[in-house]
Amino acid sequence: MAEYEVRGVRTDDELRAANDLMAKTQLPNYWDSLGWLESAGPVWADVEREHTRVALAAGELVGALRLLPLTLRIGRARLGAVGIGWVSTPPARRNRGVASALMRDALDYTRDRGAPFSLLYGVPDLYHRFGYVTMLPEYSVVVESAAVPGSYPGFVLMRPVTRDDIPELMGIHQAHEAGVSCSIVRTAEHYRSQFVSAAPKTPYWCDWPAAKALFDEHGNLAAYFMPQTAPAELHIKELGVTDCASCGALLHAAMAMARETGLRRVRFHVPPYHPFARYLEGIDSVHQARHFGNREGMMALTGLEACLNAMQPEWTERVRQNGLEGATRECTLVVGEAAFRVVLEESGLCIKKGPGKNPLPLSPGEFIRLLVGYSHTEDVLAEKTPCLKGEDYRFVTALFPKRTPFIWPIDHF
Ligand SMILES: CC(C)(COP(=O)(O)OP(=O)(O)OC[C@H]1O[C@@H](n2cnc3c(N)ncnc32)[C@H](O)[C@@H]1OP(=O)(O)O)[C@@H](O)C(=O)NCCC(=O)NCCS
Repeated sequence: MAEYEVRGVRTDDELRAANDLMAKTQLPNYWDSLGWLESAGPVWADVEREHTRVALAAGELVGALRLLPLTLRIGRARLGAVGIGWVSTPPARRNRGVASALMRDALDYTRDRGAPFSLLYGVPDLYHRFGYVTMLPEYSVVVESAAVPGSYPGFVLMRPVTRDDIPELMGIHQAHEAGVSCSIVRTAEHYRSQFVSAAPKTPYWCDWPAAKALFDEHGNLAAYFMPQTAPAELHIKELGVTDCASCGALLHAAMAMARETGLRRVRFHVPPYHPFARYLEGIDSVHQARHFGNREGMMALTGLEACLNAMQPEWTERVRQNGLEGATRECTLVVGEAAFRVVLEESGLCIKKGPGKNPLPLSPGEFIRLLVGYSHTEDVLAEKTPCLKGEDYRFVTALFPKRTPFIWPIDHF
């Protein structure tokens, strides 16, 4: 197998060549892809030039990918991750280990930054060989326009969102993310970055200039949604609501927009925990969860200890919610070769390195799926530690509840 030099781009010319390769290799629309690579990458918060990685053979560009530093939430925990996108080898260079070299470099980069996770959206049957497991279903709710006739009273104004709306957009978004797992923590800087991105035609990429804000009779921004037309349906790829009335207003505004564009169906890309999804349970609607096998949203573990330490605030709260405060419990997570004890003492919850009581043996992939709430803990425990019973069992199920891993479409990269 050939040797490749893999590193971050160093010059504007190298960056241009890498963007050109990635845009040519990936999506059918070269100019849309290039637009996104040029506008969404270098000018985004936290994105540095070295995040565009290239593979070189005797000085010639033979592959590239793009890294994106992220923060994910699991309840109260905030976990560092590095996203990987645009993995590209030109056709003449394929099947000679270029992508493998780029992936090894990207995983090393992630470990060196101390981020516990690497995250990507994968083509089928490629990334498992680098340690990635599927853990992000896609959720959406489909409503036929016949199910929502007429208009909605009470909401006086709908206008395009602007950058000045960012504080309200952020507040509305954050209010409903506490129950979710893995969604990306957005900062004001992140919103400002997304406003400058230019690839509105590409499915699911952010398009804030097309998004609409709805105001209530007091002039408050009460709901917003980001539409995208497709041949058969109108997609709403991002939305936010504040209360029941704003759900009704958003629904009617989206259905009216579909009718105006000659579409009979609206697909809201919204996870089941969200109040708007729950509101739609009250009308004719189809609620879908799409699971993937070895493709799409996948993660690899790059830092077990950092991950466990970052989980402490969330686990402390889970212990409190489950009435276990003050109890003495222990579980040992044996992930691959590494063992860490999660110890509950009178003084609180702590993580200790090394073997201990109630071992739970897991592969790194099984650990990820358990941690993010993709797996059902009861099933994992029945398989891995069938003898675990009573209060110890209750402790482990308190740490690993079933959750809804979800990343909003516009945060895909
Ligand atoms: C996918 C792609 C990056 C692979 O690049 P590459 O340099 O040929 O990959 P490598 O030679 O390092 O192959 C690594 C392994 O993946 C396998 N593989 C290669 N291309 C694959 C594909 N498209 N799907 C599934 N497996 C693939 C190889 O057989 C090899 O397996 P092995 O390690 O078991 O022998 C390249 O085909 C490409 O640019 N495709 C178009 C863009 C794309 O789809 N990118 C992925 C975005 S998520």
